[in-house]
Amino acid sequence: MLIRIPEVLTADELTQARQILAEAAWKDGKSTAGTQALQAKNNEQLSQDSPESERLRALVLKALERHPLFFSAALPKKIYPPLFNRYGGDTNFYGNHVDGAVMQARQTGQRIRSDVSCTLFLAEPEDYDGGDLAIEDTYGTQRVKLAAGDMVLYPSTSIHRVEPVTRGHRVACFFWVESMVRSDEQRRMLFDLDMNLLRLREAYGESSYLVNLTGTYHNLLRMWADT
Ligand code: NI
Repeated sequence: MLIRIPEVLTADELTQARQILAEAAWKDGKSTAGTQALQAKNNEQLSQDSPESERLRALVLKALERHPLFFSAALPKKIYPPLFNRYGGDTNFYGNHVDGAVMQARQTGQRIRSDVSCTLFLAEPEDYDGGDLAIEDTYGTQRVKLAAGDMVLYPSTSIHRVEPVTRGHRVACFFWVESMVRSDEQRRMLFDLDMNLLRLREAYGESSYLVNLTGTYHNLLRMWADT
């Protein structure tokens, strides 16, 4: 399931992020690719050890923390420290690949199973051509190119690519989530239930039926979650 999370970053945070990015040094993205990804990957990445990366990571993690939609959709147990990449010029695409199942965070050494892949767009779509995130889904290829500050979540099991950028630069933040609920199917049902509970509550106010259904949500989460 693909989920769009709008306005993860405020306009203010986007400006801050861009100021930090303007000072940052980019390096070849192949340096963090596995054997399979190495063939397909042709982009640039921010060094994880740079002070710019650290400031950007903190900014993104803080924004994620206050976002209820991100929590409901990903049900995060562990979040990989966010990374930053850029596509443009001679380094402008990332061919079809699957993200590694277990990622080791460089800063902490912590292992994180990738259940949900996240891309947070930092460049406005009109500032570059191409650069769609294309995700192979049972329904066909889904192409995603969002406004700066918006994020897409997709199952880490899917084959995906970033199509060549033919004008300008596509800058994005990406990371993985190990979810409390490992199954994409179960996570999806919980998300649907949670969103509909929210809408029912907005439309009709609190009722005993809603209290019961909310109980069902939590009981399912209790049954499926691993904390
Ligand atoms: Ni990927």
